[in-house]
Amino acid sequence: MEFDFKGQTAIVTGGTRGIGRAVSEAFLKAGSKVIATYRSNEEEAKNFSDANSAHSECLDIHRFDVTRYDEVETFFKEVEEKHGAPQIVVVSSGIRADSIVGMMKTEDWNNVIDTNLTGTFNVCKLAVQCMMRQKYGRIITLTSPIGKIGFAGQANYAASKAGQVALVKSLSKEVASRKITVNCVSPGFIDTDFIADLPDEQRDVYKQQVPLKRFGTARDVATPVLFLASKESSYITGSVLEVTGGL
Ligand SMILES: NC(=O)c1ccc[n+]([C@@H]2O[C@H](COP(=O)([O-])OP(=O)(O)OC[C@H]3O[C@@H](n4cnc5c(N)ncnc54)[C@H](OP(=O)(O)O)[C@@H]3O)[C@@H](O)[C@H]2O)c1
Repeated sequence: MEFDFKGQTAIVTGGTRGIGRAVSEAFLKAGSKVIATYRSNEEEAKNFSDANSAHSECLDIHRFDVTRYDEVETFFKEVEEKHGAPQIVVVSSGIRADSIVGMMKTEDWNNVIDTNLTGTFNVCKLAVQCMMRQKYGRIITLTSPIGKIGFAGQANYAASKAGQVALVKSLSKEVASRKITVNCVSPGFIDTDFIADLPDEQRDVYKQQVPLKRFGTARDVATPVLFLASKESSYITGSVLEVTGGL
């Protein structure tokens, strides 16, 4: 699929690794300026930067923690000063910290909710403030089918992802009159570091449950994200696009 994002600026949180990296690279290829962000993995951020040195004029990389509102606010100020208001914001930052509820540490509950839900709120709040002024915008967040169906050992993750969908649906109604669309992409099993800790036998079992009989790649998710970010997707808002291989 050919996309043209020339003249647009896309912010991608979690944009140096995994799904976010594939999204950043797809935007670069489509002519967009990209601001990719990460929390702490300097090595992967450098790998990403080196691999995309051919696009260095269109690529800016920032480090901040989405759970820290002050850091998110400073980041958006810096971006606006340097690049102007972004047209596109993709929230691909996320973590998991699995445990059954009876054994879950409060810290693991809080970290997952803070990163996946409050972090998404922080980024969306600052994003719409920029976009309202220009009366245009595309916001896409990465949720998960687990938020809809639940999963043993992932109550914190499931709650954070269900909350993200509720946030996106509500926000989409608030900003529709300003021609800002807000949607979720909901990937199934995608082969990134995020699920690298799954034992091989478990991976095989999960693969058999996917009708397409394979895990998705980060690129499989990047294309639907770019579709929702395109000007042509102007009548899609408040929706959740599943990219699960039929799961
Ligand atoms: N992979 C899957 O199977 C799958 C399935 C469904 C949904 N998802 C969702 O898709 C999104 C991306 O997943 P992925 O597979 O790309 O994960 P990943 O490879 O683990 O990458 C996660 C990214 O999020 C960043 N991040 C984490 N916590 C952050 C924080 N507090 N502040 C700022 N950035 C933070 C990380 O930064 P560092 O590089 O600095 O660590 C990293 O860049 C997540 O929201 C995840 O829940 C993934």
